[in-house]
Amino acid sequence: MPFTETDCLRARQDFPSLARIWNGRPLAFLDGPAGTQVPNAVIEAISRYYRTSNANTRGFFPTSRECDAVVDEARAAAATFLGAPSAREVSFGANMTTLTFALSHALVREMRPGDEIVITELDHEANRGPWLHLRERGIVVREVALRPDGRLDPEDFARQVTPKTRLVAIGHASNLLGTVNDVALARELARAVGAWLLVDAVHSAAHFPIDVVALDADFLLCSAYKFYGPHVGLLYARPGLLDRLQTDKLRTQDDAAPYRIETGTLNHAALAGVGAAVEYIASWGEGETLRERVVSAMTGIAAYEHGVGRYYYESVRQIPGVTVWGPDFSGLRAPTISITVDGLTPEEIATRLGERGIQTWDGHFYAVRAAEVLGLVERGGVLRTGIVLYNTREEVDRLLAGLAEIAETVAASVAR
Ligand SMILES: Cc1ncc(COP(=O)(O)O)c(C=O)c1O
Repeated sequence: MPFTETDCLRARQDFPSLARIWNGRPLAFLDGPAGTQVPNAVIEAISRYYRTSNANTRGFFPTSRECDAVVDEARAAAATFLGAPSAREVSFGANMTTLTFALSHALVREMRPGDEIVITELDHEANRGPWLHLRERGIVVREVALRPDGRLDPEDFARQVTPKTRLVAIGHASNLLGTVNDVALARELARAVGAWLLVDAVHSAAHFPIDVVALDADFLLCSAYKFYGPHVGLLYARPGLLDRLQTDKLRTQDDAAPYRIETGTLNHAALAGVGAAVEYIASWGEGETLRERVVSAMTGIAAYEHGVGRYYYESVRQIPGVTVWGPDFSGLRAPTISITVDGLTPEEIATRLGERGIQTWDGHFYAVRAAEVLGLVERGGVLRTGIVLYNTREEVDRLLAGLAEIAETVAASVAR
């Protein structure tokens, strides 16, 4: 279902933080890739849990049964959000990084020294570090090269995957450059050698409908705080796969998937928020089932975000001294746009924009290998702008005006 500018303005009413006035002006939240703002429905669900149903799970009394229902409903909603066949395939954790480390401990028990894992230079460290750590256990980690245009090199990809590859771990979309990776190629290469395919969908889940069945991933991870929810990590594992893995677990813990990787007590209140976040997204779509509404909503939101992102991309390039990094908007791309400005560090620009109530991020955002490859680390990384469903063109215009003014001051001081 189309998501229009009017829908965006209506949606903004749902997010209390967007009403904040700072120094006489509304704050412009263009920092979504580091975590989106949260709508009332999510805040209410979390607070309702604490007001009425705060308990531990699996007790034989009312609040514990209610807590069980909260967890079950969140799992069902998360499975629907990801297109998983059932809730049994979705585990929860503190965040994506923690879940990936836990999974790496389980997968290494299935490997032998000399076995190989393929990661990419473009990925966030959360999808690199846990695998690089396995070198201590004799695992060989190979890296797919990032090209200067911000895309992975497909020929190098084919070279890195060998008969010894046991896992291909790839990001769906880059939180640094907005690149959408060729997961189909990764799958094809992984399948040809019988390796598992793991997809980091943390960045993409906020911007595109996710379908784990269509992606044909063995594992897929994301984080609800990137899609209007609280801080909870989600792990999808192919049906039957997690049951076979030796996870780090207590003997008191449930042996079956999805529980066998969930150590300790989950954040039940936050899980109430995960369910509400999925329902919130679905409220912008149409269809009979929750899944249909999620896909319809995310399709419309993706097109809206692409339009606003493209407008920023095309406009910011016109400002003298600005370089835009990553792919253009002619194809599939996340609406996350990173720039550098001659004569200023990203931190200086972010600070000056921050003084105007315009919230953008500077740095490498843990996609530090990509920043190194592109020679951006020495320059302090990039200035990143992220478009999500509540961002307007008017906010982008404010950002563009701020940037033009900042760039002009630099040009004037150079001329002096
Ligand atoms: C692409 C990507 N992967 C992984 C992560 C890590 O997610 P988490 O904070 O849930 O550990 C992030 C966080 O920014 C990310 O953007």
